[in-house]
Amino acid sequence: MSDQLDELVRTVRERAAAVATAADLEALRTEILGRKGGALSRVMAGLAKIPAAERAEFGRRANEAKRALEEALGAAQARIEGAALQIDLSRQYDTTFPGAAPRTGSRHVLRRTLEDVIDFFRSRGFAVVLGPEVESEYHAFEAVNIPADHPARDNMDTFYLPSGSLLRPHTSSMQVRTMLKYPPPVAVLAPGRVYRRDALDASHSFMFHQIEGLHVDRGITFAHLKGFAADLCRHLFGARRRTRFRPSYFQFTEPSAEVDVSCGVCDGAGCQTCKGSGWLEMGGSGMVHPNVLKGAGYDPEVYSGWAFGLGTDRIAMLRHNIHDVRLFFENDPGFLQQFD
Ligand code: PHE
Repeated sequence: MSDQLDELVRTVRERAAAVATAADLEALRTEILGRKGGALSRVMAGLAKIPAAERAEFGRRANEAKRALEEALGAAQARIEGAALQIDLSRQYDTTFPGAAPRTGSRHVLRRTLEDVIDFFRSRGFAVVLGPEVESEYHAFEAVNIPADHPARDNMDTFYLPSGSLLRPHTSSMQVRTMLKYPPPVAVLAPGRVYRRDALDASHSFMFHQIEGLHVDRGITFAHLKGFAADLCRHLFGARRRTRFRPSYFQFTEPSAEVDVSCGVCDGAGCQTCKGSGWLEMGGSGMVHPNVLKGAGYDPEVYSGWAFGLGTDRIAMLRHNIHDVRLFFENDPGFLQQFD
């Protein structure tokens, strides 16, 4: 009977190796392993006639044979399925055609612009500080020399929250937060989102990005501010660009100046981009007002400093020749991928 088993395994191996279709294989499986009338169960039916002493040994051989049969059928199945897959693939796809690379994410153009500014200031020893977007009136206004009821508050078009807090309309609140936290000297950069009640159009958004710069130490003068601003413009826009300072007014700086950079399109001659002036506005700046220093516990007789506020979105628009600020916030991959 053991010989019968060996013979069965041998022939099934041969037949399984020759089977070509899944249906034929299934038929073979039933023929051999089928519970009723399968070849294996027929051999096993002879078990009753075997002397009791040999039965255990035969049982062991039978199990071995069963495993060998399943293995042979399994191998044939794997072979047939593999072949089917190959036929399928070659029908539907040209497997020699180059594949499409998966899309990978990348940093937003505003983030890149910001990182460029940060790199510039980091290399000069400035630290990056971050503060809350939901700000107190004190940090946003009082502490930067804009008392309650002062008309300058109206200019800011601030969003107020029911709690009495507000969405910061500028990053200048970080001047105070920084000086309240650290003793002089300080040299920091405070980037972040700011909010104003502006109607949305090509050059206004109710949310935009600013970078506040602040450097306070003994003996800091307007010349330091000029040097930094001019260097930064050259870093951002190229060595040929010039800067100019226009007298201006901010509550928290004295004197105050608007920083302009020469127009890169017409090189200062005047064109559509700069509206004929030859200059583009970069942001506000000035020498930190003594009241602001005093309020933060710095002695204005000993310490002086400069501050500026730049719009990151504006810098990115100028650098990439984008004419609509809304494009930055719509997250259209087609727009964003051009900066990769
Ligand atoms: N906070 C000012 C603004 O938002 C910019 C500014 C910052 C001006 C620092 C002077 C100094 O317009």
